[in-house]
Amino acid sequence: MKFFGSEITPYKKYLTRRQFIQSSIATSIVATLSSDSYAMHEQQDSQYSDQLSQNDFLNTYEEITTYNNFYEFGVEKSDPSSNSGHFKSRPWSINIDGLVQKPGVIDLEDLLKNITIEDRIYRLRCVEAWSMVIPWQGFPLQLLINKVQPFSNAKYVQFETVYRPEEMPGQRRNILQWPYVEGLRMDEAVHPLTILSTGLYGHDLLNQNGAPLRLVVPWKYGFKSIKSIATIRFVDSEPQTTWPLDNPREYGFYSNVNPSVDHPRWTQATERRIGEFFRRPTLMFNGYEEEVSHLYKDMDLTKYY
Ligand code: MTE
Repeated sequence: MKFFGSEITPYKKYLTRRQFIQSSIATSIVATLSSDSYAMHEQQDSQYSDQLSQNDFLNTYEEITTYNNFYEFGVEKSDPSSNSGHFKSRPWSINIDGLVQKPGVIDLEDLLKNITIEDRIYRLRCVEAWSMVIPWQGFPLQLLINKVQPFSNAKYVQFETVYRPEEMPGQRRNILQWPYVEGLRMDEAVHPLTILSTGLYGHDLLNQNGAPLRLVVPWKYGFKSIKSIATIRFVDSEPQTTWPLDNPREYGFYSNVNPSVDHPRWTQATERRIGEFFRRPTLMFNGYEEEVSHLYKDMDLTKYY
């Protein structure tokens, strides 16, 4: 590899910055930055930070909040941070419906009063082959599922983003079918790695990251991690979801990160970590193979992509 003079300095700076960030993973991020006014906060390091390999470093707050996908605000990476200023993410409620013993509307503030927010440092791998490492705050989706008590015939959970074209300029165009919908199989939804996030880096989520509540499923491509959730529905069959609806040949329901199943238009074997210079290999299930591979043990993952 040949370096040009102009490239060397930024690369050195980047290495120094990365070393600094790495050492900060070991200390409590939340103790210094927390501003979460809605919920109790666990003053502990992420119980999952040991999931990070030597080779993982937190992305900066700036990177995580300005390089986004949130098509409701436009398709460019800078659109969500530029165009989401008029989105009203408080007050907020979540509609619980479908095959569940306690359907109804839950006020988010009320919900958070009885929940302990945890720290989870996770890799996020977008289907577009870029990735980040994000220190989330949130709580296991399983906690909410236990509260609302789905019936035993509820096999899947469907999530819907709010539909407000007056506040979300991207929804005034036919970029995708609105509202954005996602889904998980019930065992994926109650898996301990699956969280509903309310914040990152100790701050409440900004609109561009899916305020006030978004899903994070770290072993799946980022598009499964639906933002600004307004409805959670319990259903008995695999729900339709936004990207397979848009293009079933290119996107599937499962969307597990898998370096050996390429996207029809690009390789999934490697990825570009935002802020880094070289591409790096993509890990099976985004590095969470030990925790989740049992969920798919008899499935052909080239068929169920
Ligand atoms: N949720 C909604 N409602 N609309 C979207 O366009 N984009 C998805 C996902 N959730 C999206 C969404 C995609 S493609 C990715 S990669 C992640 O959000 C990006 O999350 P981030 O911008 O917080 O990094």
